[in-house]
Amino acid sequence: MASIQDYFFDTAFLDRSIDYLAETLHLAITVVDSEGIPVTTRRTTGHDTPVSRAYPFHFSSDIGAIVCAAPDQDHLSQAEPHILYCLASLNSQLLRETELRETTEEMLQLSSQLNFLFKVAKKIIGIDDLKKCYQIILEEISQTIKADQGFIHTKGRMDEEICLTHRMTGEEVESTLKAVCLQRTASGSTIICTREDGASLLYSPIKEKDSQSGRLVFIRALPHRAFSASEKQLVGIIENIISPTFETLRLYDSLQDLYMNTVKALAAAIDAKDEYTHGHSFRVAKYALAIGEELGIDKHQLNDLEIAAYMHDLGKIGISELILGKPGKLTSEEFCLIQKHPVFTDKILQPIKLPARILEGAIQHHERMDGSGYPLGLAGTNISLFGRIIAVADVFDALTSKRPYREALPVEDALKTLCDGIDSLFDREMIIAFIAALRAQQSTEVMGDIHMGLRHHDIQNLNQFLIELTDFAMVANRG
Ligand SMILES: [Fe+2]
Repeated sequence: MASIQDYFFDTAFLDRSIDYLAETLHLAITVVDSEGIPVTTRRTTGHDTPVSRAYPFHFSSDIGAIVCAAPDQDHLSQAEPHILYCLASLNSQLLRETELRETTEEMLQLSSQLNFLFKVAKKIIGIDDLKKCYQIILEEISQTIKADQGFIHTKGRMDEEICLTHRMTGEEVESTLKAVCLQRTASGSTIICTREDGASLLYSPIKEKDSQSGRLVFIRALPHRAFSASEKQLVGIIENIISPTFETLRLYDSLQDLYMNTVKALAAAIDAKDEYTHGHSFRVAKYALAIGEELGIDKHQLNDLEIAAYMHDLGKIGISELILGKPGKLTSEEFCLIQKHPVFTDKILQPIKLPARILEGAIQHHERMDGSGYPLGLAGTNISLFGRIIAVADVFDALTSKRPYREALPVEDALKTLCDGIDSLFDREMIIAFIAALRAQQSTEVMGDIHMGLRHHDIQNLNQFLIELTDFAMVANRG
């Protein structure tokens, strides 16, 4: 059943029109719905109105009519031009209001789509983990369209397959992908179809440039209703907006990998200048990360810390191999030149506009807590956190590595040397964190490179030593 009143925002215009017809033209007016049932009436008083005629509203579907009744045919004929004029006014008002209603609905729909996109964008900003972003998008869409299950099947940064799910198992994904209705359908656009078990499937392709790189599938099981056309439209629009984001995320992820590999290649090139420092930057990065993790710094900072550690000796690229690998004592000029390598690092990295913490970490690893370090003689917390972390990692690796002028120190001796420098040379907190990391990770994981040859009881001894050293580091050099 449809009635003209349902099509007006405000029925005052309709009321005024029928009041005019009734009062001015002395007609009895009845507005009826599509089934002829009266919706509203105006009666004349004082005389009968046996002659009547229905004037239907001009609309795309039957929404009823105005029935005008008069005392006789002449009365009705004379009134007809006025009736038709009123009807035309009502029809045009109806058209305007319908257009307005449709526009409002479209705007509401757009606004809910925008809200959704803002919500998702807010959640994924700053997340550089591709899978995490996919998962958030999957969960958000599932929640918005009230899907019982869903999955996203697409490509990762190295074109490897990624399948993330919302409340479904891998087997369920497999069987859904084989569903006859999906196999049958040309999959270039968003569709709704029904699986053999009666569940409603909403399928949307993920496109990259001109090709398809994956799919989003949502499932609503019986007895819930099938997905609606508006839900399909919403997912289609979301997919259109999100597809380029997927592509960007993938490229960004690849770029990050490329960047880190370049940094590593650079670190390897620096280490290769001197046979005694082979692998130094990689070990320093590993120790620095172990300290950073123990300190609980977040993933982004850890990533930057790793880069800073790889780059900490970058400036050595400007120093001759003959000086770096000199077996004997260095002359004071040679020593001065070596002390300049953080300045060279600064000069090389400055134009790249890296985050400040990476640059500071790389160039401050020879600064010492009492201000006796170089190149700036910074003291205490004027040395950046990364600088204080890398200082400990760097000295530990230098001590446990063979040098042209001495053998490698045993781990215990190296740690004792670090502890002797607590507060004066090194930040106590960093040393305690390093020892804790060695203990937590059973030493071998952190120090795998230098502990390949440790026998079982040596490791046990080392762990006991680390426990004692922690107590020592807590109180060393205090008061
Ligand atoms: Fe250095």
